[in-house]
Amino acid sequence: MKETMREIEPEDFLARPFHLLDKEWALLVAGKARPNPMTVSWGGFGTLWNKPVVTVYVRPTRFTFCLLETEPEFTLNFLPPAMRGVLELCGSRSGRDLDKWEASGMKPVPSKTIGVPRVAGAELAFECRVVSSLNITPTRFLDPSLEAMYPEKDYHRLFLGEVKTIFASERFIVPGA
Ligand SMILES: Cc1cc2nc3c(=O)[nH]c(=O)nc-3n(C[C@H](O)[C@H](O)[C@H](O)COP(=O)(O)O)c2cc1C
Repeated sequence: MKETMREIEPEDFLARPFHLLDKEWALLVAGKARPNPMTVSWGGFGTLWNKPVVTVYVRPTRFTFCLLETEPEFTLNFLPPAMRGVLELCGSRSGRDLDKWEASGMKPVPSKTIGVPRVAGAELAFECRVVSSLNITPTRFLDPSLEAMYPEKDYHRLFLGEVKTIFASERFIVPGA
């Protein structure tokens, strides 16, 4: 598939972040030796420690969690609407017992800056190196309804990824950049 993205600076990234994550979803790829794609819709973009940072929230029950813990790099990939089925598959099956690349027909492409691949056909992709992680701690919840999201007590860990580079198609680039 022909690459329609080009490399951009973080300041030239244009997005509706709430719509992008909550409605379009993304594929978080972790693991170098055996990369594994997992669907996510919780996350964020911003500045931390004077660095451009992408944050993802991963429950310890995910295979992806172990991969991020041992190889602290990831890509976050946003796919065109025609690839929605891939997101559904990668959000309902675990890489522990399925090769999701083979099952979906999706292909990895080498990243420019890290050892974890991006996803062929993506419209937007971040290459990130994890610089820190933080745990969601239920004793800190001020809104008691949050606990209902954790019947298994598998509180998320936040993985804070410094953005090493971004590849984006035109709809995600500031006009004129
Ligand atoms: C729309 C959608 C969004 C999801 N967002 C997250 C998320 O942000 N964090 C998380 O830990 N799991 C999330 N999941 C669940 C994982 O994608 C799912 O459990 C997956 O099978 C885990 O794959 P793995 O075991 O290969 O890591 C989401 C699932 C869907 C369908």
